[in-house]
Amino acid sequence: MTYETIIVEKRGRVGLIVLNRPESLNALNEAMMVELGRALDAFESEANIGCIVITGSERAFAAGADIKEMQGKVFPATYRDDFIGNWDRVTRTRKPVIAAVSGYALGGGCELAMMCDFILASPTAKFGQPEITLGIIPGAGGTQRLTHAVGKAKAMEMCLTGRNMDAEEAERAGLVSRIVASGDLVEEAIRTAEKIADMSMPAVMMAKESVNNAQEMSLTAGTRTERRLFHSLFATADQKEGMAAFAEKRSPQFKHK
Ligand code: CAA
Repeated sequence: MTYETIIVEKRGRVGLIVLNRPESLNALNEAMMVELGRALDAFESEANIGCIVITGSERAFAAGADIKEMQGKVFPATYRDDFIGNWDRVTRTRKPVIAAVSGYALGGGCELAMMCDFILASPTAKFGQPEITLGIIPGAGGTQRLTHAVGKAKAMEMCLTGRNMDAEEAERAGLVSRIVASGDLVEEAIRTAEKIADMSMPAVMMAKESVNNAQEMSLTAGTRTERRLFHSLFATADQKEGMAAFAEKRSPQFKHK
């Protein structure tokens, strides 16, 4: 498959997607989001891929939706065509997706990173929702996912003023799972993805589903669903293997990868 706006590679059992519009700091345009969706579809259907990493450049993960492409749009068409309604493809990915963020992750770029399962950041990362400075508001989940991630106070301040968070503040606030030294970010994201891809895939996918349920469900419904998923894993050969390996003091060799 050929791509114009992204670079797609396989690193063993890890699918790597590099956003690649350097002339606009990886501004997210329609073509890029369609290609990102195609690359995710391809990795989802490839049995050998166990985890996906999305990254950008040193300077920018993505500086937001492409303002120049968006500038001339008018309300009836944005509504009729459900503009950016297809941008949430990442959230429907059943395999885990890691965002590796260096530089700017602004507007739609911050929203795309937050759609991933977790964010690894380099010390240069800057997160923000500057849409308000353009006379609009975030439209790809920023007001919702940022609030879930960092709480109302910070999310509200960021969405109302457009101020950025640096990597340290983002880590303290819980937006970022960990900061990784600059230059090492993508390799560390791939190492982390390899570790995940080496686990039992049904367990990985159920863990992902269950953590995500915490954003959507009540505690009672979420814990009940978690327990049912937990029970179902006792039907897998990998549960037998994982526990036998522990008892025999060896590494597990999971079958369902
Ligand atoms: N859309 C289109 N082009 C963009 C862009 C964007 N979001 N961000 C940067 N670019 C382009 C610039 O226009 C510039 O192109 P030219 O050389 O042709 O002029 C090039 O990328 C480099 O950018 P700068 O010269 O501005 O670089 P800088 O280092 O001085 O500033 C920046 C970097 C602070 C990120 C600045 O580019 C900026 O503020 N970008 C816009 C950020 C933004 O507002 N994002 C939100 C977009 S709206 C959105 O995302 C809606 C949504 O919720 C889905």
